[in-house]
Amino acid sequence: MKRSRFLRVVYLAGLLALIFPSQKLLADNGYDAWLRYAPLKEERAKFAAFPSLLVVRSDSPLPQTSQKELIRGVRGMLGRELRVAKELPKESAIVLGTLEGVQSIAADLQPPKNLGADGYWLSNQRVNGHDCIIIAGATDRGILYGVFALLRKIAFAEDLSHLQDAQEPANPIRWVNDWDNLDGRIERGYGGRSIFFENDSVRADLTRASDYARLLASVGINGCIVNNVNANPRALAPDFLPQLARIADAFRPWGVRLGISVDLSSPKSLGGLDTFDPLDPRVQSWWKEKADEIYRVIPDFAGFLVKADSEGRPGPSSYGRTPADAANVVARALQPHAGIVMYRAFVYDHHLDWRNPKNDRARAAYDIFHPLDGKFDENVVIQIKHGPIDFQVREPASPLLGGLAKTNEAIELQVTQDYSGPRRHLCFLVPMWKETLDFDMRTDGHATPVKNIVSGQVFNRALGGFAGVANVGLEANWMGNPMAMANLYGFARLAWDPNLSAADIASEWTRLTFGNDPLVDRTIDTMLLSSWPTYENYTGPLGVQTLTDILGSHYGPGVESSERNGWGQWHRADHDGVGMDRTVATGTGYVGQYSPEVQKAFETLSATPDSLLLFFHHVPYTYRLKSGETVIQHIYDTHYQGAERVRDFVKEWESLRGLVGDDERYEFVLTRLKYQEGHAIVWRDAVCNWFLRVSGIPDAKGRVGHYPNRVEAESMQLTVYVPVEVEPAENASGGKAVACQSPARECAASFHFSGANGTYRLNVQYFDQNNGKAKFRIFVGGRQLDEWIADDTLPNTKLGADTSTRRQISGVTLHTGEEIRIEGIPDGGEVAALDYVEIEPQPK
Ligand code: GCU
Repeated sequence: MKRSRFLRVVYLAGLLALIFPSQKLLADNGYDAWLRYAPLKEERAKFAAFPSLLVVRSDSPLPQTSQKELIRGVRGMLGRELRVAKELPKESAIVLGTLEGVQSIAADLQPPKNLGADGYWLSNQRVNGHDCIIIAGATDRGILYGVFALLRKIAFAEDLSHLQDAQEPANPIRWVNDWDNLDGRIERGYGGRSIFFENDSVRADLTRASDYARLLASVGINGCIVNNVNANPRALAPDFLPQLARIADAFRPWGVRLGISVDLSSPKSLGGLDTFDPLDPRVQSWWKEKADEIYRVIPDFAGFLVKADSEGRPGPSSYGRTPADAANVVARALQPHAGIVMYRAFVYDHHLDWRNPKNDRARAAYDIFHPLDGKFDENVVIQIKHGPIDFQVREPASPLLGGLAKTNEAIELQVTQDYSGPRRHLCFLVPMWKETLDFDMRTDGHATPVKNIVSGQVFNRALGGFAGVANVGLEANWMGNPMAMANLYGFARLAWDPNLSAADIASEWTRLTFGNDPLVDRTIDTMLLSSWPTYENYTGPLGVQTLTDILGSHYGPGVESSERNGWGQWHRADHDGVGMDRTVATGTGYVGQYSPEVQKAFETLSATPDSLLLFFHHVPYTYRLKSGETVIQHIYDTHYQGAERVRDFVKEWESLRGLVGDDERYEFVLTRLKYQEGHAIVWRDAVCNWFLRVSGIPDAKGRVGHYPNRVEAESMQLTVYVPVEVEPAENASGGKAVACQSPARECAASFHFSGANGTYRLNVQYFDQNNGKAKFRIFVGGRQLDEWIADDTLPNTKLGADTSTRRQISGVTLHTGEEIRIEGIPDGGEVAALDYVEIEPQPK
């Protein structure tokens, strides 16, 4: 570096340190996710004998990427610069190549026979009298996966002296789906705008796309659908395809193939035909020509994803044709180029008559697709959501997963946390996915776990696998929260090997993301592994579904929103009981879609596990669970337990201050967890109060509806603030809030503290709408205690459960009779609304 430039850098660093004295200059914003390659500390000593030379016997793109990645990782973690050679020298080396490639250098090597596609072999071998590390791939992609596997082992500071690891992926299809719209927004995306598109074009700068492919490749993902399943026909437009080719170019060095979602009406809406009937020869030619056109610019194009006849999307039913008719026509266009069609089984009528107790959306996928088994071409894969409804907090495994013996299948898992606390709530979904993957369908009376069906093993299918809805975005940390990346990591690891345990996946991710400190590992793993049951506890337990606002944000509670509409996410809760009767004997008959043995597990109340009781049965609130508790008391208790557990998450995370490698991610996650602590209480109160009102059965422990530490805003002394009703009422404490509706004026709400002198925590529950940045100030005895701006970007403009937010102020000394006063200054549409103030003894 030149001296003048050096001085400039020193000067700038000094200036930054002055401006941000408490911030470390090398903060981590989460961009590197699990590929941080952070320097190993004392563990480096273990790698004293690690070779300094890298022998690569190929100039093709993937081995070149592999070489660069290995150099980068070793430099980061071990502080060593690997030299590169083509021939084997007289020293120990890392030898990198395909199985044949490494054998051509060292003929004595005995790699494993029949290593499957994309598999790799890592091994410690004596070559020419020197210790060498062999990284051999069954394919070029396998080499890259082998490199990433070795780098993981280094990150875990594993002993490499007896390295012997041969792995191949369980599933040929390991794809992510990104639901990006061409205008740059992302459907159910929580990490910013699209990394691929803006203004109906592909972005000029695709650095993020290439970095995304690197992340995906590091965990074995080999395909990516880049646009929303609710597809825009423009994705196939002649001027758009060369733009897509640029994304494919960014992916290719990482072995990730590009695919796109297509709108089945494209031959008409884009191609100008007067029909999109799949059986019309003109439509068939249109698809063939379109496929040829695509492969001219993207020779390794992966294929199409199709959402049809679902939630208003066009589909073959318009012409009385079946999904098989449609899928096959498109598949035949792709077949000469080795492309595939992923046809989604998420097909249902969203105008179901809710008054008919026999109607059941859960039946739809099986009813439609099972009769078509065997009618799909070999390059069609039916992509099936893991449960029969739609990524609810708990669902049984979709019966269709066991209902297609002569058709390729892929399981669709939702990495983006639509329905599980989008990016703001910690909810590690791997344990939930494991339950489905390990679920035994007992097809033909044999052990047939879902994971072995989708891989193709059970029914001897050549194609099959996993699709994960990822929806990463432009925010630095990809998904809006560094912790949410555990789900992307976990999805990919399961797609590679569904037999990995949730605990192992959690630990791998934690150590790669936050380092090998055993306390950090233990603490974060415990948080991750308990986060899904916790989320379930304070949302919708017993298989009743998430109970979120299904008509809007899918975020806060909205118990009523599932009922009395055609969407079919019914829980059938009324004054007398709750749950959907899906039995063969008296219900919708859904249970009959499973194999006889599985039917037995769900048809009767006595057999059904508590966790899925309300998915399969309608019971009175006083029904006693296997745990001995009544259903209603279980609902109350779990909601209190869940909210309580989130409080522990905050404490557990705080115990890691200074230990997670940097401050930026630490603070970010802490802020999110504190937010979750407050929002879990919003959930708890909304769901419990709804059930209290509907069932009329009080909480045996006297908590629901009684909040002795709360002062409702509407009961405070109000200046300019006015009381307003919140709809639905259970989404605000006491059903009301106070709002500052006079834009030019400052509002105030005050009361006198009636407790004993002491130290307290004040929880101010207010509403943070996303249409303004209101300000709040709080005073105790005339002294300002705190102030803040309600500038979060929660998914609503209204007062309600989506926007209800908690400001915690700890360690406040209060004296009996002292005035507590909150001032609100509205901004834009945001009315500086307050719900209540809760004064609790300062927690230890
Ligand atoms: C969910 C999701 C929708 C999406 C749909 C799908 O319902 O919330 O945004 O379009 O699934 O999977 O097609």
